[in-house]
Amino acid sequence: MSNRRPYVGGNWKMHGELAGAVELTENVAAAIGEAVEAVDVTLFPPFPYLQAVGHALRQAGIGLGGQDCSPHLEGAHTGQTSPAMIADLGGSAALIGHSERRNELGEPDALIAAKTRAAIAAELQPVVCVGETMGEREAGNALQVVERQVRAALEGLTAAQVGTAVLAYEPVWAIGTGITATPDDAQSAHSMIRSLLGELYDAGLADSVRIIYGGSVKAANAAELFSAPDVDGGLIGGASLKVDEFASICRAAVSA
Ligand code: 13P
Repeated sequence: MSNRRPYVGGNWKMHGELAGAVELTENVAAAIGEAVEAVDVTLFPPFPYLQAVGHALRQAGIGLGGQDCSPHLEGAHTGQTSPAMIADLGGSAALIGHSERRNELGEPDALIAAKTRAAIAAELQPVVCVGETMGEREAGNALQVVERQVRAALEGLTAAQVGTAVLAYEPVWAIGTGITATPDDAQSAHSMIRSLLGELYDAGLADSVRIIYGGSVKAANAAELFSAPDVDGGLIGGASLKVDEFASICRAAVSA
């Protein structure tokens, strides 16, 4: 993992209710404990619970983020949540381009790029998700798809702006399926993304940006995945709802 500080995100997706979200937050903070000194941990609860989870986090040293953000900073955009509103509730990050939004809601690359720019404008850390479908992988196009998604999301951004981002490689076929990419599969996508950052910007930026893996990460496979040299942590779905699983994934990121 080199000397990049590891990063673990807990993407709760559309799970839970208010009381459970607060309880999960408190238990996660207690279970992770002092490990937060060596890993950046951010929780991404559903929007309605953002403020309560932020309160429950208090001084735990764990970050808070939205699962999406509007490409607009304010205005007549019914149902959307601006990055400034996430920041106003104590959030410091936003997931952008998750495949469940790309695929269920048809979010195109250009919209994802606009959301990335809006997040940066509001001083949120964009956690930009990319990843190929099984069909794209089977057709031999996995790396081309991921490259297209990264290029599109970063279009027009400066090196300093990209330096605030985290990139998440989440192969769609591994999300919620129990099928995990092998460390070699993850490494080949991550190393391609890092080389691309070097080509688009410079070697220093490429070396410093965290590229995390998502897709059926569990306590049992986290250490092996995080041992790949260009895998700097994980974006965790199902296992982020289980206190002990998530805490041990965070500890695996510290040890990698
Ligand atoms: P799972 O860990 O449930 O496969 O989800 C991964 C994910 O989509 C995180 O954003």
